[in-house]
Amino acid sequence: MKVLVATEKPFAAVAVNGIREVIEGAGYELVLLEKYAAKQDLLNAVADVDAIIIRSDIVDAEVLEAAKNLKIVVRAGAGYDNIDLATSKAKGIVAQNTPGQNSNAVAELVFGMTVMAVRNMYNGTSGTELKDKTLGIHAFGQVGRNVARIAKGFEMTVSALDPYCPDEAIEAAGVKAIHSVEELYSNNQFVSLHIPATAETKKSVGYELVKLMPKNGVLINTARKEVIDEEGLAKALEERPDIKYVADIKPDTADELKAKFGDRVFFTPKKMGAQTAEANINAGIAAARQIVEFLRDGINRYQINK
Ligand code: 3PG
Repeated sequence: MKVLVATEKPFAAVAVNGIREVIEGAGYELVLLEKYAAKQDLLNAVADVDAIIIRSDIVDAEVLEAAKNLKIVVRAGAGYDNIDLATSKAKGIVAQNTPGQNSNAVAELVFGMTVMAVRNMYNGTSGTELKDKTLGIHAFGQVGRNVARIAKGFEMTVSALDPYCPDEAIEAAGVKAIHSVEELYSNNQFVSLHIPATAETKKSVGYELVKLMPKNGVLINTARKEVIDEEGLAKALEERPDIKYVADIKPDTADELKAKFGDRVFFTPKKMGAQTAEANINAGIAAARQIVEFLRDGINRYQINK
């Protein structure tokens, strides 16, 4: 069996070593395609492999078509909007993710970016603190829960909105459950986005919600750029010079936003949330183990294309 790790944004070397140990330990062959420049490189690499580990790499119908022997693709991470689920399902290829494995890394970056925003990008001027401020968590999944845990260390007042999570689970974490999106944005100076990019959430956060934020609001996006209505966000930032937007995913209109709003907006050059050795090890090795469990023992936890 041949297992390909296809990562345009590579894992830390220590994680690749761990993946290799698991794959070769099972008697399989490991092939690496890192930092590839063109889709054709991926198409060539998948031609004869049985399994693929990816990150945000796009596995669309063309890639699935080119992967003639493919049995399983594992997204080493949480969000799987980069995999064509319908086509993989139709072809009988199992798709899985590794939920929770990189969530602490993403949650820590939320606070890295939030502190930077309230300290005015470390420009030497007087900023503010997070203690006693309000934080709204938009979706209470694995990352949202870690954000809540860390926010408590900052002594923030935390609430969360998640129609898919029972109130009891939110309250059990010491977080107030909120039931309307308008309430989430109007009651919290800080709002941290953790919604996946789906048909329902795409462009769902824009002018109408951002303009509701209290004075000196900061919107933090470590989720997906697609959930933002960038035109609406720009309009809200225009009308409300007190609001800031920090994101771990460069918006399509990053240059325009930067030119207009300067240090009130911040974007990492490449998605950095899960880019820690620990998250790479956790997610990468989990993906490798899931592949071995599936190919060798037929175990199929975490399937996302049922
Ligand atoms: C995820 O969905 O797991 C995160 O967005 C991390 O994505 P990455 O593996 O491309 O860094």
